[in-house]
Amino acid sequence: MTVLLSFAIEAARDAGTALLARFEGDFEVETKSSAVDLVTTADREAEALIVDRIRANFPDHAILAEEGGAIVGDDAPASGIQWIIDPLDGTTNFAHGIPHFCVSIAMWEGGQPRVGVVHDPCRNETFFAHRGHGAVLETPRGPHRHLAVRGGDRLNDALLATGFAYHRGQGGPDNLAELCRMVPRIRGIRRAGSAALDLAYVAAGRLDGYWEHSLSPWDTAAGALLVAEAGGVMSRIDGGPWTPWERSVVAVGPALRDPLLAALAEAPRP
Ligand code: IPD
Ligand code: CA
Ligand code: CA
Repeated sequence: MTVLLSFAIEAARDAGTALLARFEGDFEVETKSSAVDLVTTADREAEALIVDRIRANFPDHAILAEEGGAIVGDDAPASGIQWIIDPLDGTTNFAHGIPHFCVSIAMWEGGQPRVGVVHDPCRNETFFAHRGHGAVLETPRGPHRHLAVRGGDRLNDALLATGFAYHRGQGGPDNLAELCRMVPRIRGIRRAGSAALDLAYVAAGRLDGYWEHSLSPWDTAAGALLVAEAGGVMSRIDGGPWTPWERSVVAVGPALRDPLLAALAEAPRP
């Protein structure tokens, strides 16, 4: 394991411990871009823990973190390295006492993902990947497991996940047309409330695929590397190439990619 991957895993686990200490009560809630877009004092505390640690250890690395934005440097720092952080993905779950949220930390270099960590503190599950070396899940339940996406090619047999943007009702895609197209054709749909865990679950073969509109780099930067290293494919919903700066995401095993994109393409676009 590289120094940077070990560093990211430790930071994600420590931030997760800080979140758990606040979970079920000890935090305050504010709204951000809309009345349903929440941030808590726990988000800010976990982000400060991660950012302070990166600054102390790697002062020439750039940082893009959800609550603070571009805190250090920009996306082309001298080191060529940028950390992309969601300190609490699944804030609405957290604020409602639902134990399904995570810390997401990615390290990108030269526009390519190098390291990705998604840590679920409630289950103590850590999903991590190092580019070119596969993706791994460490759980308290047994030895670590190398991740592989599911290989099915039939929508009928697929368990999919999705999510709905905070700006719904204010223009832009609300994902309802896509949902209506997909639900009659698939085994099941989940809206679990954490994009980073949705991506990790695709990588782990728990889900066959995932799509969502209107995401941000911190939601997807780590999970996308997990998916790629587990043999999956990432794209935009229209099938175009994905980068963390694309708002729409599809993550799926290669065999199900075309059927999923074709079904999504039937939904009328606004
Ligand atoms: C949100 C979650 C949610 C997704 C939203 C994201 P947050 O992130 O990942 O599942 O549907 O689009 O913004 O606000 O909990 O960090
Ligand atoms: Ca998020
Ligand atoms: Ca967040």
